[in-house]
Amino acid sequence: MLNIVILAAGKGTRMKSALPKVLHPVAGKPMLGHVLDCARSLGESRIQIVVGHGSDAVIERFQADDVTFVLQEQQLGTGHAVQQALPHLDDDTTVLVLYGDVPLLRADTLRQLTSQCSASTLALLTVNLSDPTGYGRIVRNGAGDVESIVEQKDANSDQLQICEGNTGVLAVSSRHLQRWLPQLSSDNAQGEFYLTDIIAMARADGLAIVTAQPQAEEEVLGVNDRRQQAQLERHYQQQQALQLMSEGVTLMDPSRFDCRGELQVGSDVVIDINCIFEGKVSLGDGVIVGPNCTITNSSVAAGTIIKANSVIEDAVIGEQCDVGPFARVRPGTQMARGAKLGNFVETKKAIIGEGSKVNHLTYIGDSEIGKNVNVGAGTITCNYDGVNKFKTTIGDGAFIGSNSSLVAPVTIGENATVGAGSTISGNVGDGQLAVARGKQRNIEGWKRPTKKS
Ligand code: UD1
Ligand code: CA
Repeated sequence: MLNIVILAAGKGTRMKSALPKVLHPVAGKPMLGHVLDCARSLGESRIQIVVGHGSDAVIERFQADDVTFVLQEQQLGTGHAVQQALPHLDDDTTVLVLYGDVPLLRADTLRQLTSQCSASTLALLTVNLSDPTGYGRIVRNGAGDVESIVEQKDANSDQLQICEGNTGVLAVSSRHLQRWLPQLSSDNAQGEFYLTDIIAMARADGLAIVTAQPQAEEEVLGVNDRRQQAQLERHYQQQQALQLMSEGVTLMDPSRFDCRGELQVGSDVVIDINCIFEGKVSLGDGVIVGPNCTITNSSVAAGTIIKANSVIEDAVIGEQCDVGPFARVRPGTQMARGAKLGNFVETKKAIIGEGSKVNHLTYIGDSEIGKNVNVGAGTITCNYDGVNKFKTTIGDGAFIGSNSSLVAPVTIGENATVGAGSTISGNVGDGQLAVARGKQRNIEGWKRPTKKS
């Protein structure tokens, strides 16, 4: 079975953060999460994560049945890190080494790499870089065979000219690692045990070094600081935008699109600028999302329009609905076909029946609203007494006048009418009119107060 060792013990000093580096997100997911998901997608394997700095937080976040954590108390180098995993490796199997801070590696690339590893070959992922500064350099002989890797700080001026860089990712038999790693020395510019020194050892033992390259440079880029994190974020978002457009989505500006999760789309979906999709979101055929919307863990069915500046979370929105602009659709909202939520409307745990309209300046919480109900501007469901939450039920065809307060628990019957400005604290029967407000008095000849001199 494939053994995978993910190095994640480093401090990430340049992130200047209390959070361990590998927990910093790209597209809303910790970098180590991307690496782990990719590792898992390679099929059945045994995964070890080498942790050190911030190990408690890393372990807490990623604890799982299929992962073993190995503590590297002192970070003495990449070779030392892999050495900590040695006792847990299977004998005579392929070991794939990954970095927890290189989040965008693709499974295809890794499959290709591991397929080239055998008892007599070590497979190395290298990349040609326009600026290889900081990378270990791949040293090849006259025949083009890889001889060794030399780190930037140990390289001579000729070696510094080499543009083929070491990505750090490699695949090699555990049997060889068990022999080589204990022989590593820290006699180098950084006083570290370099994993890269096993390349020369492999050559000395007569192994061939085979190399593979990633499809794009960004796949193998690591994150050392916030600038690189932002760069990878943009690359990732751009890739997702390209993918969506290839599926037929219109993105008004692909450089202003952010998906931090999974977005499923039907045909002819249009997404305007500055929208953020988080968690699992699905948009049905013909859905239009206006600018500046945030949609989190929700489904939006065919033909629905989400207008500008709406925020939607954990909601199920039916077909042909109309939401926003400036709607706040909170968890537990369900809209049936053709329902409308207009500007400055907030809903929470609310079922809005087919064809019902809640168009302006309203709060609907813990409520069940039937079909073809009209909720007037400024209506508030008073669902909370400071301790407990109560439910409001409104029957089909009811009409709630503007600026009404519905004090829950309360039921408004089918086709009932609530007069504008009412505070309704008792149930209203089917077809009844309820008016609960101060009576109007008109006073003739009223004199306004005047200022005393
Ligand atoms: C390493 C490679 C270099 C390569 C570069 C690619 C070595 C000696 N050098 O250099 O050839 O071009 O990556 O980015 O391997 N880590 C541990 N424990 C340690 C040291 C590191 O877990 O004791 C982890 C880090 O958290 C990180 C990864 O290993 O995820 C790489 O370490 P880093 O210090 O960034 O290596 P580089 O010096 O960049
Ligand atoms: Ca690095």
